[in-house]
Amino acid sequence: MDVETSAKGREALASVPNTPGAPKPDPIVVGDGITRTFGGLTAVDVEHIEIQRGVITALIGPNGAGKTTLFNLLTGFDKPDAGDWSFNGNRLAGLPAFKVARLGMVRTFQLTKVLSKLTVIENMRLGATGQRGEHFWLSMLPPLWRAQEQANTERADDLLRRFKLDAKREDFAGSLSGGQRKLLEMARALMVDPELIMLDEPMAGVNPALKQSLLGHVKSLREEGRTVLFVEHDMDMVRDISDWVIVMAQGKIVAEGRPEQIMADPAVIDAYLGAHHDADLSELDEARIEAEATAELDQEAKND
Ligand SMILES: Nc1ncnc2c1ncn2[C@@H]1O[C@H](COP(=O)(O)OP(=O)(O)O)[C@@H](O)[C@H]1O
Ligand SMILES: [Mg+2]
Repeated sequence: MDVETSAKGREALASVPNTPGAPKPDPIVVGDGITRTFGGLTAVDVEHIEIQRGVITALIGPNGAGKTTLFNLLTGFDKPDAGDWSFNGNRLAGLPAFKVARLGMVRTFQLTKVLSKLTVIENMRLGATGQRGEHFWLSMLPPLWRAQEQANTERADDLLRRFKLDAKREDFAGSLSGGQRKLLEMARALMVDPELIMLDEPMAGVNPALKQSLLGHVKSLREEGRTVLFVEHDMDMVRDISDWVIVMAQGKIVAEGRPEQIMADPAVIDAYLGAHHDADLSELDEARIEAEATAELDQEAKND
């Protein structure tokens, strides 16, 4: 993974047509026929999606478009009604989140999931084995820490320095500001040295000073040759750092292209203006969804 990967990835995008689901020259993720319904509501209905390797792709769309649900599906935090997708050629459908993470695909959450009652360094160590629910972590803690503790701690401390969180090492994660939690979540996601990192609204609730540093961190992921897929409402950020933009509305991909083209695309304007701007999921809803996902993962872990 290096600078060359990202430069090549970006160059290759020049030949990609501006059509929803457009094939990419070197896709790291390929998905087909992915649908997820909640009762009568179709939250996700993606015919075809490809994410180019080594570049930053933004996933945009109005509230309720299905962006978070698509993240949940791709990373094993939710199960689709139908669909198939692969990461680096490995079929992922049906794999639980921690296995997806170990293969090199991790995500952060719209509402951060740092564990408030653990310290910053403890949160980092837990990132080392992939993504699990709090329940699972707490039951696993002592044996997990003894194994591999040294190597994981060194990596964790390197990342804390990089994200300027080293001074907070022994503080409870619950005492961090919203922006610092976002940084911690990103740092923790890097514990598994992922090839693809998916960020769900990394800028939401982050103060302007920290925004610049977050932007820098996202760009440096690309410089390392990692692939970044991020959901964001902040159009300045989308214009500033993304190489490619995918637009979702009502569960479907409605447009794709380079940022400057996408911002001028009538289909995109329609998607934003025409959609019902229903509220984001309440914290309660999201907590319930995560609790359900965690329970399922715990069950699968027991069956491992
Ligand atoms: N667990 C759930 N139960 C019921 N409806 C859900 C659930 N998760 C998401 N939804 C609905 O699916 C749609 C897409 O939501 P979401 O993926 O969060 O959109 P976005 O992230 O683009 O704002 C919304 O209408 C939302 O209310
Ligand atoms: Mg969302």
